[in-house]
Amino acid sequence: MKNIVILISGTGSNMAAIVQAAEKDSWEKSLGVRVAAVISNKQNASGLSWLHANTNSSKIHTEVLEHTQFATREAFDAALMSRIDEHAPDLVVLAGFMRILTPAFVTHYAGRLINIHPSLLPAFAGLNTHQRAIDAGCKFAGATVHQVTSELDHGQILAQAVVPVLQGDTAEALAARVLTQEHLIYPAAVAAFFKP
Ligand code: GAR
Repeated sequence: MKNIVILISGTGSNMAAIVQAAEKDSWEKSLGVRVAAVISNKQNASGLSWLHANTNSSKIHTEVLEHTQFATREAFDAALMSRIDEHAPDLVVLAGFMRILTPAFVTHYAGRLINIHPSLLPAFAGLNTHQRAIDAGCKFAGATVHQVTSELDHGQILAQAVVPVLQGDTAEALAARVLTQEHLIYPAAVAAFFKP
């Protein structure tokens, strides 16, 4: 059985979409892969409560590793790597994991580390993507699933979804429209990663 480890920091709705797709589409049988663990760098991440309430929690290992407990970014990433590697991951999925990763971390998981970013990359890498798309007068916005490399929000594009930017859109309204598409493309991209 192959293993997926998902990293979250907050709501974890993309994580939930992946966990639900794995269940609904029987990934264990159809793809020989399972979500082995979900790790959060924040104790109060509501994604963890969702998991406990909505899944057979004995099947998916959950863990909190707070970055505030570590003196340096390198020390946190090293500890995180050792927690992740306990699950022998074939794929590490960043799902709203709001941390800048060290080169050592990215190199360690090269080719098996993916992220979802709420813009049509290479446009709007970084933060505040929706407001920046509105301010730039974009007619379309979206989300991108990509391989993670040492350059922030770069790396091979695996999937994208496009939504319209509507007249009078707020960043919140646009974010919600994009997020519904994230929930479709991220599970599909994870499944595609394991398809022969
Ligand atoms: C998602 O919109 C994701 O694209 C974004 O954070 C949100 C997390 O939502 N990620 C980034 O901005 C990464 N730079 P979720 O916790 O409900 O999945």
